[in-house]
Amino acid sequence: MGRVLVTAQVVGDAVARLREAGHDVVFRDIDAPMPRDEFLAALPGVDALVAMLVDRVDAEVLDAAGPGLRVVANVAVGYDNVDVAACRERGVLVTNTPGVLTDATADIAMSLILMSTRGLGAAERRVRTGTPWRWSLTAHLGVGLRGKTLGIVGPGAIGLATARRAKAFDMRVLLSGRSSPDPAVVGELDAAVLDLDELLTASDVVSLHCPLTPATRHLIGARELRLMRPGAHLVNTSRGPVVAEAALVAALDAGEIAGAGLDVFEDEPRVHPGLLGREDVVLLPHVGSATVETRTAMADLAVANVLAVLAGRDAVSPVGG
Ligand code: DGY
Repeated sequence: MGRVLVTAQVVGDAVARLREAGHDVVFRDIDAPMPRDEFLAALPGVDALVAMLVDRVDAEVLDAAGPGLRVVANVAVGYDNVDVAACRERGVLVTNTPGVLTDATADIAMSLILMSTRGLGAAERRVRTGTPWRWSLTAHLGVGLRGKTLGIVGPGAIGLATARRAKAFDMRVLLSGRSSPDPAVVGELDAAVLDLDELLTASDVVSLHCPLTPATRHLIGARELRLMRPGAHLVNTSRGPVVAEAALVAALDAGEIAGAGLDVFEDEPRVHPGLLGREDVVLLPHVGSATVETRTAMADLAVANVLAVLAGRDAVSPVGG
């Protein structure tokens, strides 16, 4: 039996399953990131770590855990918070939670597309703040989606699920990514596959779905924002550092794009002050996967990975596997 550290509260009864299997579970049942000093202090002797995307799992963490650590189960599909190379060097397996959060995250991407293009953040704030308003033909005019072009950057599962939603709004879909999407899916979406610059130039809405890697950090910077149409909207549900936030603020100031819908930020939970006061941005606190069903499934999958590895079986969803 192993010792398992779960660094924060999770949804559902996954932790009970670890205990039922006989593991010694250190469960920090608190709905907030584990302070670094507590995290390091809790690690010695741990065989498995159930980590949140806000936990930086680096060489220091792995060294604190010691040679017994066998698996880092990240409760997220993105694993940019985990130094996978350092884990591999020490023979520690890394797992993530693909699949189970595809629909919830695509729903939020589509919500942000609608909120940004229709200016719903500003409209909602107007009512909420008690600012006087009356119905008129010209107040709060947005733009419609029918016939407009959605550029998906990173056509993985979530990007394609967003594209499928956009098809229901009669949008045309463009795709761009590191690897070519399945031709059958491209056909199903009646999509065109372009390089990034072409996609940015041709899209009315650009939605980001790529993982954060050294190659995608600041993938969207000043040059890329200038390529976008003045009426275009940028939506990001991937990872904040994919967009250079200062460049985004400058592009909005200069009218190089019309608006943005952001669920993620470059230095979460801090938000660039230049974004906070703007009416042309919609800002959400990283809620892409935040449904009861999805967060339960994410915890279940992370725990299934731990149970498998500690029982000597193959992990269910290993990173790179
Ligand atoms: C993920 O799984 O990477 C999401 O950002 C979590 O909400």
